[in-house]
Amino acid sequence: MRKRVLSGMRPSGKLHLGHYIGVLANWRNLQEEHDSFFFVADWHALTTEYDNTSIIRESIDDMVIDWMASGIDPKKATIFVQSHVPEHAELHLLLSMITPLSWLERNPTYKEQLQEITQRDIQTYGFLGYPVLQAADILMYDASFVPVGVDQLPHLELTREIARRFNFLYRDTFVIPDAHLTRTPKLTGLDSRKMSKSYGNAILLSDSAEEVWTKVKPMVTDTARIRRSDPGNPDICNVHSYHKIFSDAETTAWAAEGCRNAGIGCIECKKRMYEGMEKVLNPIREERKRIVESGVSARDILQEGAEKAKKVAAAKMSEVRDAVRI
Ligand code: TRP
Ligand code: SF4
Repeated sequence: MRKRVLSGMRPSGKLHLGHYIGVLANWRNLQEEHDSFFFVADWHALTTEYDNTSIIRESIDDMVIDWMASGIDPKKATIFVQSHVPEHAELHLLLSMITPLSWLERNPTYKEQLQEITQRDIQTYGFLGYPVLQAADILMYDASFVPVGVDQLPHLELTREIARRFNFLYRDTFVIPDAHLTRTPKLTGLDSRKMSKSYGNAILLSDSAEEVWTKVKPMVTDTARIRRSDPGNPDICNVHSYHKIFSDAETTAWAAEGCRNAGIGCIECKKRMYEGMEKVLNPIREERKRIVESGVSARDILQEGAEKAKKVAAAKMSEVRDAVRI
């Protein structure tokens, strides 16, 4: 039997190249060999966006179109929205009964976010319970592994602990899932910070080729390389870190050497990198066009996905209720 993989993404509207490199390319490969469930974590978004829910609603379709343009195939993977399967909420409630408060309070991601997110009040019951909801998402489907980034490892560990505790208190009900770390290096933003739409340093999957070049052309390089004749240091240049991801080995070596001995100019270097980047972006763009023109609607895909997910979730919940005897 094929192993099951499951992962979720909070709806944040149009996706950027970092989402593709870090997450979607991995999902796309996984869907070929595994029974895959990929869902939009709209309730998780609500933990921080509870006072502006229209953002969540508006983001879902755009995001799912970006998934499909990136090769996530609804014929291969089950694609759905968390809130369309209310069983997640029931399981969350049952798991919340057995989750010690101390496990949640000591969660490093929680502590960090309390510090970092200052524009919103996230001192809520729901936000503290974020990882319990995530555990419900995962355990519901007996997922063997969960592709996530390192930032999500504490949540995965909590999921495992909650599953073990449930299995111990009642009866063996849940598969203990493993994290599946993405190996690709993290894609930095155009300004070397974390790539994020809100920082304005992102290349969107829906940007045109012209828009991408308009963003790449002014990228900051080795600031000590002022004149074309100045040798540069590719190791401190963000353009070079992009070469390592988007160019072949030969081009990357050509760029490094040309930079060090001032054999090439920065625009020339960027142009070559951009060509490699376009080899990734253009097929996504073409696929989006094909999807839009074929009249496929995200709504229909998500409805079909919810039906499939609901079958699995309903069966699991009756097992869970039996185990709890409620
Ligand atoms: N917390 C995850 C994130 O912010 C999203 C998520 C919600 C998730 N439920 C999940 C990821 C279940 C994997 C499995 O990225
Ligand atoms: Fe950066 Fe390339 Fe310019 Fe060197 S040549 S500083 S790697 S853009």
